[in-house]
Amino acid sequence: MDMTKVQARSGKHNLADLESMREGFDWEEVKKDFSWYKTGKVNAAYEAIDRHAENPDKKDQVALLYSAPDREESVTFQQLSKQSNQTANILKKYGIQKGDRVFLFMPRSPEFYANFFGILKVGAIAGPLFEAFMEQAVRDRLEDSEAAMLITTPDLLGRVPVDELPHLKQIVLVGAENLPEDDYIDYDAEIKEASDEFDIEWVDREDGMLIHYTSGSTGKPKGVYHVHNAMVQHYATGKWVIDFKEDDVYWCTADPGWVTGTSYGIFAPWLNGVTNVIRGGRFTPESWYETLDKNNVTIWYTAPTALRKFVSAGDELVKQYDLSSLRHVLSVGEPLNPEVITWALRVFDLRIHDTWWMTETGAMLIVNLPSMEIRPGSMGRPIPGVEAAIVDNEGNELPPNQMGNLAIKKGWPSMMRAIWKNPGKYESYFINGWYVSGDSAYMDEDGYFWFQGRLDDVINTSGERVGPFEVESKLIEHKAVAEAGVIGKPDPERGEIIKAFITLNPGYEANDSLLEEIRQFVKTGLSAHAAPREIEIKDSIPKTRSGKIMRRLLKSWELGLPTGDTSTLEE
Ligand code: WT7
Repeated sequence: MDMTKVQARSGKHNLADLESMREGFDWEEVKKDFSWYKTGKVNAAYEAIDRHAENPDKKDQVALLYSAPDREESVTFQQLSKQSNQTANILKKYGIQKGDRVFLFMPRSPEFYANFFGILKVGAIAGPLFEAFMEQAVRDRLEDSEAAMLITTPDLLGRVPVDELPHLKQIVLVGAENLPEDDYIDYDAEIKEASDEFDIEWVDREDGMLIHYTSGSTGKPKGVYHVHNAMVQHYATGKWVIDFKEDDVYWCTADPGWVTGTSYGIFAPWLNGVTNVIRGGRFTPESWYETLDKNNVTIWYTAPTALRKFVSAGDELVKQYDLSSLRHVLSVGEPLNPEVITWALRVFDLRIHDTWWMTETGAMLIVNLPSMEIRPGSMGRPIPGVEAAIVDNEGNELPPNQMGNLAIKKGWPSMMRAIWKNPGKYESYFINGWYVSGDSAYMDEDGYFWFQGRLDDVINTSGERVGPFEVESKLIEHKAVAEAGVIGKPDPERGEIIKAFITLNPGYEANDSLLEEIRQFVKTGLSAHAAPREIEIKDSIPKTRSGKIMRRLLKSWELGLPTGDTSTLEE
């Protein structure tokens, strides 16, 4: 098989000629599909849920198809509309107002999604937290966003430093058997009383909707702020790239604590009115195949790290499941290995469509449309209405086949509108009218983009973005650790693993149990995905004269590469 190009195949997709759309493309045309285009009343929760609930032909369609090892449930658009109205009423009763930040720290469940829309319906800004976050990660986010309310469960409450968050006025506990004290709001009791009717708070398209915290190479996680207008691109990319039709059963495997799990686990499917599969519980190739089979999933959006595990699980396993409903597969988050594309062609007879975007971009920008020829190893081409280029450090466009900064012309609909309380950081993303992504790439003569790596120290482990500074900060809180430098080390299955170099304080001796203790310290203090898989003890950590850890040098040592310019190295 010629793996340099994989042609589009008709029959499986609606092969709209999106190529011709690029000419004279205008986002205004897309906006005509929203009810606010006619009514002037804006709220993404209305467009995603209530609009369908008010439609006699759609209200009884299953919106959310939940399956977890211990619970199965179908929720229609009408039910989800009513349930989110109930949450909105609770929020309003306890004083939540437009613009307040309300965080969600609870497992993926039907309640999570009702609460998410309840937050939007009062005009508040939702802050979904990944369930695996430990105290430090939770604290950083609630502190920085000055969240007024947190909706969580008794199991997770222990990771919330309640007394140290002055802005956090209310905590709502979902599923509490006995309330710990009367300082907490009992969700289950309130829901029984709450009306399922609610007057949505209409907002401006530029009003806040969502904050996702994400890591850079320095400092604490940054609050990436998205507004209701992002729905325009969630909807459009859902239609063009994910190829939604009304009777699709779609499964996006990402957790709503990450941007893929909101943009494509919430907005894109429901704005397009399709049935959305939500799966709780842990990943195993068996349980995921079962989810595809049992729910007759037609469209699947997942990540290379999971796909690589399916490849390792072997061709015999997949034969035990009936995956004949599946018609479209997409990937995001890391480079998609050409071998995985070959595997999918063999076992599913389907192409995998890579998509590139970031927390900051809010939605897909560079993609493989169903109608496009795929070039395995390439992320594809920009969607209509988006201009991408490779630029140098001054923001000048570079010619084809030259490596540089992957950049996007400022102004697409779902672009972040701020870094929360950090205008300087926000400005630093833009050079000469371009949003500069931090990824290095090149573009071929035909406009296909090829990812090369990160230009900063951000780590991508199993598709999750980790800032080395966060891990280093946690490491040096351990009493044995004096200094720490953290890097991403290439790994065939996970993309990168986190490797930490540390120096020990006097009186501590290097041994396996100490290293394991330090690893656990990060795991239980910050989060499992941020815990270093490898820790190496050094006599010193290389730093610049101004005291910055030279992670690049650590990486070169680790990989046995030339060390380059070390003139700024401290003595
Ligand atoms: C970084 C963004 C929003 C999607 C989930 C990740 C890497 C993303 C690809 C791809 C190679 C990719 C980039 C990017 N990345 N998609 N198709 N091929 N790398 O969002 O956590 O904000 O991470 O993920 O390095 O900058 P994120």
